[in-house]
This record gives sequence, C-alpha cells and structure tokens, in this order.
Amino acid sequence: MTAETGTAGAPLVRLEGVGKSYGNVIALKDVSLEVAPGEVTCVLGDNGAGKSTLIKIIAGLHRHDEGVLRVHGEPVTFGSPRQALDAGIATVYQDLAVVPLMPVWRNFFLGSEKRRAFGLLDVPHMRCTTRDELLAMGIDLRDVDQPIGTLSGGERQCVAIARAVHFGAKVLVLDEPTAALGVKQAGVVLRYIVQARRRGLGVVLITHNPHHAYPVGDRFLVLKRGRSLAYHAKEEISRDELTALMAGGAELEELAHELESVSGTAAEELSAEARTLGAGGEGRP
Ligand SMILES: Nc1ncnc2c1ncn2[C@@H]1O[C@H](COP(=O)(O)OP(=O)(O)O)[C@@H](O)[C@H]1O
Ligand SMILES: [Mg+2]
Repeated sequence: MTAETGTAGAPLVRLEGVGKSYGNVIALKDVSLEVAPGEVTCVLGDNGAGKSTLIKIIAGLHRHDEGVLRVHGEPVTFGSPRQALDAGIATVYQDLAVVPLMPVWRNFFLGSEKRRAFGLLDVPHMRCTTRDELLAMGIDLRDVDQPIGTLSGGERQCVAIARAVHFGAKVLVLDEPTAALGVKQAGVVLRYIVQARRRGLGVVLITHNPHHAYPVGDRFLVLKRGRSLAYHAKEEISRDELTALMAGGAELEELAHELESVSGTAAEELSAEARTLGAGGEGRP
C-alpha cells in the first residue's frame, strides 16, 4: 500500500490553471500544481507572491474563481475548511491555534476529544495516544502533561504535524513552518516533514527559504506576483538554480560580489595592521 511504502502514486491534489482575485487585486493567476502521496511539493515565493492565497484555496478557506482544483481526481470547490479536512487535507498555519496553558495531550485532541460513557473525557487514552504518536514521529516528550506553551516553536509545529497524521490526513499543508525558527529547530521540523512523507502523506510546504525547501522537496513551484515563475521536479533543478530564481539571480550575485570585496578589503586591512604591529614589536604585553 502506498501509505506504508511511501511510493508516489496518483495525485491527491491537482491545481489546473487556478486563479483568484480579491476585488481588483489578482492574487493568483493560472497556477498549476500536483501533490502526490509520499511527495513533498514546495511552494516558494517572496512576500505577496500568492503563497497564502494558494494554500487557503486548498484548505477550503477561500474559493478559487478560475481553473480547476481536483482532489483524488474529482473537481471540487470547498465551501469551508471542514470540507477540506473531511477530504483528508489538514493545514497547519504559522500562528498555530493552540491553547498555551493546556497540556500537550489536550491540544493534540482539541476538537476531537475521545470520550467514554456519559461524555467523560478518556484522559488515559488521550495521554497514551499522544505520547505514542509523538514517539512514532521521533519526538520523545518527557511529559505530555506539560502545557504546550512550554514547548519550543519547532516542537509545537511537530505536535501539529503528528496530530494531522494521527487523524488520518492524506495531505498536509504547512504554511511557513520554519520561518520563525532558528537553524537547529528548523532542521527538526524538516525532519518531521520527511517522516510524514515516509508515511505516505502528500505534503505542501510553503516557504521563502530555498535552503529549507531543497533538501526535503520533490517538486518546486516558484510564485512571483501571483504567477507561476517555475515548476520543476527535483531532478530538473539544482539548489543554486532554485536560489537564483527566488532571489532574482543577478541581484544576489551582485550582492555576493559586493560582500566579497568588502570582506576582502577588511581582511587585507587586518593583515596589514598585524604586520605593522609585528614589525614595531608593539604586541600585547
Ligand atoms: N483578503 C485579501 N484581500 C485583498 N487582497 C489580498 C487578500 N489576501 C491577499 N491579498 C493580496 O494578494 C496578494 C498575494 O498575497 P498572499 O497570498 O498573502 O501572498 P504571500 O503569502 O505569498 O505573501 C498580495 O498582493 C496581497 O496583498
Ligand atoms: Mg503568506
């Protein structure tokens, strides 16, 4: 089964020439994209490129007004996020909707609480399941009773991902999950994205950082002012090419040269200073 082996199959989600306007503003125009099981599709682009608009359409928050959105091959227009969720599409937003003072397990089951007879919460089951699911994703939380607010941003993202996997998501949409994180924590989140892919989910990763996208991505869509600038499978594009597309190529090269010459001059000045000091015998006492 694909869910176990993580091999790529038929697309879970497919956008064909999708467009969306907000009044006079064309937020998205003629964008096509495929999300296959066991694959990570990265959507890259600067601020205002249309990334959030794209995921809001997939997540059922906004409706597209051009093109076709297919889920499992069927054309759909979601009327609400609930409909998208029922179709197996789980979205993790950057500003996670968590209740900071509630325990991790409570947040894990928020809105989908497990109950026993008379509507009583089945706390032991929820605790245990939360711990097991997090462990299965490689997250070893000492205490699932600690308030989720005490976890780092990266850990919280990971809990949200594990939650989506547990509740049967087929497609996981992540809006800039690494944007607010340091290098190490971003690495942790990227590792869980790879875990979700291994479990057969189709992942849509929104980011403006090609260095986060490239190692985990199978396909890359680069948006610019609402339009598709490039759409490539990994074997068709190198990390440098992806970075150049994002940065507007020439501008970045220019900056690199500038920085090089600045630091080169600084290095020359330093070594010259060191020579003078050495010759004058004015070293530190
Ligand atoms: N609700 C909205 N109403 C009007 N304009 C919007 C709305 N949402 C987004 N836009 C505009 O659509 C464009 C794309 O925005 P967005 O999808 O948020 O880009 P990104 O997430 O890549 O930064 C921008 O020009 C933005 O100002
Ligand atoms: Mg955005």
